[in-house]
Amino acid sequence: MSAADRYAVFGHPIGHSQSPRIHALFAEQTGERLVYTAQDVPPETFEPCVRNFFAQGGKGLNCTVPLKELAWKIADRRSERAERSKAVNTLALRPDRTVYGDNTDGIGLIRDLTVNLELSLENRRILLLGAGGASRGVIGPLLEQNPSRLTIANRTPEKAVRLAGEFCDLGPISGCGFSDLGTESFDLILNATAASLTGELPDLPKNILRPGGCGYDLAYGMEPTPFVRWGRETGASLSVDGIGMLVEQAAEAFFIWRGIRPETRPVIDFLNRERRARCQAPDNPASPRY
Ligand code: ATR
Repeated sequence: MSAADRYAVFGHPIGHSQSPRIHALFAEQTGERLVYTAQDVPPETFEPCVRNFFAQGGKGLNCTVPLKELAWKIADRRSERAERSKAVNTLALRPDRTVYGDNTDGIGLIRDLTVNLELSLENRRILLLGAGGASRGVIGPLLEQNPSRLTIANRTPEKAVRLAGEFCDLGPISGCGFSDLGTESFDLILNATAASLTGELPDLPKNILRPGGCGYDLAYGMEPTPFVRWGRETGASLSVDGIGMLVEQAAEAFFIWRGIRPETRPVIDFLNRERRARCQAPDNPASPRY
């Protein structure tokens, strides 16, 4: 029997990645034979590591923080959505040995919001926090949902203004600093800053979330992130992290590589059950302490 096809996620750091488990669950569900590993790859060695992985028979890669812009550069050809976002999270080796780059983050977020969480974004006022790589990948797909307005707010205001300018042909979008948000309120606030990764919270004005509005953190963790906790304390009707987006973007990458779209619901439910169980375990040091 031939060896299983090899895939991997590259990132720096990578220790927290759930992607190997998600792809193992997809492989089991679909009966596909593959191996998916996680590798810590700093930006300085990214290109040789990618070349080496494909030279040694690897079929596809996911690239995460801080490698998505580098992955965009390395790809020989790119999808339209990757071209637009200037960031790539999925690389696939084609039969002619060229490297194809795509970005499945946007579709992953939109599927989680509109299918799994059943939110309609049409005519909604959406606030996107952050103007880095995570924001870049989701702006185009968000505007395709026809919100009444998409505002990007960032700690460094000029970056938000510049980013909004890059996408202004796609819909009503503007950029500003957190303090410029004033008294405006939003139906949906998406946190795409790196603040959650260091246990911090963007500095947001009071009443920024309209009553009954929703909060969504593109980051995820074993415990609720500071932004998810903020949403709950602020009275959001829904305040969740990005575990659903992670599974959805993985399913789209799996489809690009294998031509089969796995079912995401059982995998999201499995990961959520596992997180709940861990939080309740009495000897788990990551559990909340009272
Ligand atoms: P990523 O690829 O994850 O988006 P990035 O390109 O480094 O990473 O971007 C990080 C984003 O998080 C930026 O928008 C950054 O704001 P600045 O542009 O002002 O640096 C934002 N960010 C990081 N830490 C933050 C914090 N503690 N509070 C608010 N925003 C933060």
